[in-house]
Parts: sequence; C-alpha cells; structure tokens
Amino acid sequence: ADKVRESFIEFFRDGNGHTFWPSSPCVPHDDPTLLFANAGMNQYKPLFLGQCDPALAMAKLKRATNSQKCIRAGGKKCDLDDVGKDVYHHTYFEMLGNWSFGDYFKEGAIKMTWECLTVKFGLDPERLYITYFGGDEVKAPGVPADEETRQIWLKYVPPERLLPFDAADNFWEMGDVGPCGPCTEIHYDRIGGRDAAALVNMDDPDVLEIWNNVFIQYNREPGGLKELPAQHVDTGMGFERLAMAMQGKQSNYDTDVFQPLLDRVATLSGKTYGRADSKPDVAFRVISDHIRAVAFSIADGQLPSNTGAGYVIRRILRRAIRYGYSFLDLNEPFMHALVPSLAGQMGDAFPELKAQQQLIERVILEEEESFLHTLANGIERLEARLNEFKSTKVLPGDVVF
Ligand code: GLY
Repeated sequence: ADKVRESFIEFFRDGNGHTFWPSSPCVPHDDPTLLFANAGMNQYKPLFLGQCDPALAMAKLKRATNSQKCIRAGGKKCDLDDVGKDVYHHTYFEMLGNWSFGDYFKEGAIKMTWECLTVKFGLDPERLYITYFGGDEVKAPGVPADEETRQIWLKYVPPERLLPFDAADNFWEMGDVGPCGPCTEIHYDRIGGRDAAALVNMDDPDVLEIWNNVFIQYNREPGGLKELPAQHVDTGMGFERLAMAMQGKQSNYDTDVFQPLLDRVATLSGKTYGRADSKPDVAFRVISDHIRAVAFSIADGQLPSNTGAGYVIRRILRRAIRYGYSFLDLNEPFMHALVPSLAGQMGDAFPELKAQQQLIERVILEEEESFLHTLANGIERLEARLNEFKSTKVLPGDVVF
C-alpha cells in the first residue's frame, strides 16, 4: 500500500509537474461549513473561489498532488452506517488527488488519469468503465450534459463503456455550499472478462468507483449555482480501493492497509476473521476501520466530546466498542491496544501518529473505560426491564427514555 501511495505521488509530481502539497488535518480548523475533511479539495477551496491570500505559498500553486486524510462520518458525506457491513466504505480513508488551479482542464486531466491507471499502475483497460454528467435540470439547472468529456473519453474507451448519469452521481459538491462541477468517474470491475456496464453505480461489490475527476466550474451558493471566473480540476481516488485492485484482493480489508489491524483484533479477542458467521466479521471490520478515524482525529487535535466533530468521534469509538463487546466478547478496553500497530504501519507516511501516540492511547483508554461501564450497566438494566415486560412484549416509551 505504501508503494501504491508513493507511485501515485511520483506520477503526478515527478512525471507531470505537480507540487506535493501535504494533506490538511482530517478535522478542518478553518472551515465552519465542514465537520471533517471529506475530500482532497477542501483545503484548496479559496484557490478555486479565487479568494486565496496572495501572500500565502498556496496562492502560487498551479498543479498539486497528495494523499488527503478524509473522514466521511458526519455532515453531507456520511458513510458510517455502511462501514463494516460492506467491504469498501470507510469512516477514515485516504484520497489520492491531483489538482489544477486554472491550469489544465478536461483534456489534460483525462489523459493523465488514463495513463496513471493503465500505464503507471498497469490496470487492465478492459475492466474500466467511465461515467460522465448526462444533465440534470432539477439539481443542476443550466449545466449542460458533458458532451465534451464524452468526446475526450472516446479516444480511450469504446462507447459501450461510457455511461451518462445525473447529478446524484456525476455532479460533485463538497457540501451545501462551495466549489463544484460536473464529474467523470472511473469504475473498476474486479472480475473482468465480461460486460459489467449494467453493474456500474448499482452498489455491486465487484464493480466499484475508484476515481473521480471533477471539473470545478461553479460555486454552489444559497441562491443556486454561480459560474466561477476560472476552470479547475479536482480529483479524488480511493487509496484503499486502488490498493485492493492492485493487490488483486476481494475486499479493502484483505489488503495490507487493514491486515495488521485485523490480526491485532484476532490476537486481542482470540477469534479469527473470515468465519462463515457474519456478525463477528462485521465487528472485525468495524473495529479496524474505526480505530483509524479515531486515532487520526485525535492526532489532528479533535478529542471525543459531547458536541460537533468531537461527538461524531465519540460515536464512532463507541460503535467499535459495542461491536467488540457484543460480537467478539471484548469486555475489557481493547481499542487503545490497536494504536501501536496503526502507528507502526502508517507513522512514516503520517508522522503525527507517532508523535501523538501516547496521547491517542490515553484518550481512547479513558473513553473505553467509561463507556464499557455504561454499557455493562445499561445492558443489565435493559435485560431486567425486558424480563419485566416479557408477557406484553412491549417496552413502554418512558422506560426506554
Ligand atoms: N473531490 C472529488 C471527490 O471527492 O470525489
């Protein structure tokens, strides 16, 4: 996985003139419209809007690349309920990206995307399907279907692998307001040797979106879409999904991004991952996913709390504890014991994890002790009440409250 990350950066930085610009914190300190960084483009918002302070180093960027720390667990982009139940959504993930600020546009972006995937990474072109914006007068009124993008893609893929979708899939927005535009996504068929066009955007676990290229041309304002003075490119590729494709695995959790964490959960619980009974497997995935969101948030300065982003982090941590408690018999604090594995595995790419390791472990342990106490008491009380109302099979609302 480290090599996948490095190769992507190398392709854009060394091969295509992009500046490596480090990931911003996964908890933004300067954007009240976001709870978490939900995409690589967030930190460049002032550049897209033409509002960047010219004294800042960022103002000089024409092309940039990085792997951005993202969390999609609250706000407009929220994947929390799916995490662990499927094998390709995450609360915390990395988004590999390349950006153009008024520099190259559709032609250049599509060419680089295609070369990166099929030459640099050597993915089979026959397994790639492309979607583009087909128009949507309700959600993106006045924005024409993106025929230009379709024509460019026809240089690389046959028409039957080029599919139009409406704004829900192909008009990308970071939130209720902000820079946005029509997008073109690349979907990867894990199986290959077949026509998988009908499975694109159907939540099929074998046909997954891996990369999105957004052509930022508009700003979403409370009154509607407003055209921007310049045209930009914003891309986001799921690092864990690309690692899965490159390693020929069936799920993101089978890659070396998650294996060390799953192994550690196995040691701590004395159970094995990959058994036929599904609840424990979901618990394994929930725990090894959630520890990343919690640890990276704390490293970036967001502690669990009762409000805002802090409350989302507390809920994520509690969800993991509850899954461990209910399905892996983990009745003692265990989440903090995953932190050394995570820091060992990712601390070179993200040194803040190693620098903050002790704090992360201590904060998680305190939360665990307190919540396990609440959980044990709560479950005992609930069971007593369930017994009491066994005959009616109805638990009254005031009792629940
Ligand atoms: N900003 C592009 C994406 O998140 O898909």
